[in-house]
Amino acid sequence: MEREKILVNSALPYANGPTHLGHIAGAYLGADIFVRFNRMMGKEVLFISGSDEYGTPITITAEKDHVSPQEIADKYHLSQINSFNSLDIKFDKFMRTSDPEHAKDVDEFFINLLEKGYLVKMYMISPFCRELNKFMPDRYIEGQCPYCGYGDARGDQCDNCGRILDPIELINPVCKLTGNAPIFTATDHFFLKLDSLQGELSEFIDSKSYWKPNVLKFTQNFIGEGLHPRAITRDLDWGVKIPLKGYENKKIYVWFEALIGYITGARIYSEEIGKPDYWKEFWMDKNVRSYYFIGKDNIPHHTIIWPAMLLAHGGYNLPYNVPANEYLRFDGEKFSKSRGVGFTVDEVLKFVDKNSLRYYMASILPETGDSDFSMKEFQLKVNSELVDKYGNYIYRVESFIEKNGLLPHKPETMDYEDLEIMNILHNKFAEYSKEIGDVHIKRGISVWLELVMVANNYFTESAPWKLIKEDLEKLNEKLYVSLKIGQYLTVMLYPYVPSAAENIWESFGIPEKLAGARFDDVLNTNEFHVKKGEIPFKKIDLNNPNIFDIQLATIVSVEDHPNADSLYVIKLHGDTNYQTVSDLKNSFAKSDLLGKQVLIITNLEKATIRGIDSECLIMSVSDGNSRELISGSGSDGDPAMLGDYLYNGDHVLSFKELQRVELQISGHHMFVRLGEKLLPLMLNKIYINVMPENMERVLIK
Ligand code: MF3
Ligand code: ZN
Repeated sequence: MEREKILVNSALPYANGPTHLGHIAGAYLGADIFVRFNRMMGKEVLFISGSDEYGTPITITAEKDHVSPQEIADKYHLSQINSFNSLDIKFDKFMRTSDPEHAKDVDEFFINLLEKGYLVKMYMISPFCRELNKFMPDRYIEGQCPYCGYGDARGDQCDNCGRILDPIELINPVCKLTGNAPIFTATDHFFLKLDSLQGELSEFIDSKSYWKPNVLKFTQNFIGEGLHPRAITRDLDWGVKIPLKGYENKKIYVWFEALIGYITGARIYSEEIGKPDYWKEFWMDKNVRSYYFIGKDNIPHHTIIWPAMLLAHGGYNLPYNVPANEYLRFDGEKFSKSRGVGFTVDEVLKFVDKNSLRYYMASILPETGDSDFSMKEFQLKVNSELVDKYGNYIYRVESFIEKNGLLPHKPETMDYEDLEIMNILHNKFAEYSKEIGDVHIKRGISVWLELVMVANNYFTESAPWKLIKEDLEKLNEKLYVSLKIGQYLTVMLYPYVPSAAENIWESFGIPEKLAGARFDDVLNTNEFHVKKGEIPFKKIDLNNPNIFDIQLATIVSVEDHPNADSLYVIKLHGDTNYQTVSDLKNSFAKSDLLGKQVLIITNLEKATIRGIDSECLIMSVSDGNSRELISGSGSDGDPAMLGDYLYNGDHVLSFKELQRVELQISGHHMFVRLGEKLLPLMLNKIYINVMPENMERVLIK
């Protein structure tokens, strides 16, 4: 029998910066779990994403870094691939829109739509900056949103109400680069005739009652307001060429071209596996469902523009579901790279493992509303649910079996209680499958958690340590059922934390492999050769070592040390006044230091250096050559937290201890190594201005 096929696409992330947890929560982790789940259900899945390499997000970054847009795209294409790999998020193909194969697909789409009359040439009134003497990209124009009144709307979209905008609609528009009001002047462009697709789009939406309410409502409103032709070319250098003569100075707009990347990705994958027509089975067979995992700011592009393009082109399947996620916040704040709020994938993997991270993130996916990433909750959930409840359950069962040299096997009969447990396993599995099948990824993990509770109670009440002295047959039955529970739990955990689940699976000594298997096969096998009893997860320990009192302070004076040529005497203002004798003189002129806000360690043992008291230490990092201060912006006296805790005022730090501490910096985050532990330094509202990418391993000096 032919297997059911499904197509899963995740939004193509802009290749303009490191992947952060906001991205992962928005469009990738949920998709990966959904794909793994569906494969285990026996479906044939094609899972595609890629780097979105055109568009102003790339050129803005390139201008800032003084490199070419292609250099930015190359760098972050690799970086995105690494981040996804490091989290076990595995696409069949992660394409890139700068691939010449992509331009071919875009050309075909463009010409097809042009010939069918869905693209028309019209004049467009575009913002032109007189000072820079060029047309400005939509994103470079800012002003007030005409729909919701939000003051900082961009010319392409309002971040507040999510509306797609045209820069001319903005109230009081200004050019972001010069601050001048742009003039609006005519330039000719190609337009997609959304208006002539209004009827077909309404019909498409009418059949989507199973969509998430917010996605459906947004889309219905959008269509209900009436659709208008939409420009799909721009006056830009960086983008896919228009496949017509005379348009060399214009390019195809990123939000037309990137969407076609989903098709290119599937097509390239098919070439790579030597079945060049394979992608057509997913795109052209009417029975194949396609899912688009995206963040909420991408909704209109995937529920209106892309369906419109597909309808106009003909022959391709329209989206079946677009389960857009809301935003992930960090301790209540919106992710912000510039203010150091939130973590990149690389940063967070410095102090936790990928399985713990996947588990926690899956349990807080912003599926029904914004959700909050909190270090406290992270630690709590992993430690109590994954380690104490599940890990410990597996450990208890396995170590009992191993210690007593037992080989539990399927019993002839079972008592009422055990039949009931087997029933619960089947029912919970069905519930879990229904949830994930309906793309309620977060609820899948809560069903799993309910089963974990059943597991521990069952084992405790079975009291095998008593049965082993009284009734060996009953003992076998109870241990067999205990293993079945462990087996279900581990299999159900697999889509969420694949590599950890595989390790645990190994310890059951079941002949079938878990990776790549179907639920049917791995749940129905009853042969156990239990190998080991080890708690399979490590606890997250971000507990306060109570070793550092770190705060933000401003340097108020810098003097030469009267008795030492190479030292300064520096006075600072933090929560109170401090003085330090410092060797920063080797690296900085007085004027470099004066007025700077820096991080200082204040719980140091007092020292007198050549007759002058020193009572704190200014934190700086060095790669052996140059040295950088760890400056910040906040208020004097603002404390930093180590792990999740504030210094409690108990510890006086000796110089010996200080020597043993290693400091690492990655992006806007700082990590402190204490023996085995690597702890993030949480700066609260303090923003680290220093980002020495090449100073990965540095010592506090
Ligand atoms: N690059 C866009 C973003 O990060 C998403 C593009 S999705 C695509 O918001 F399908 F158009 F590629
Ligand atoms: Zn708005």
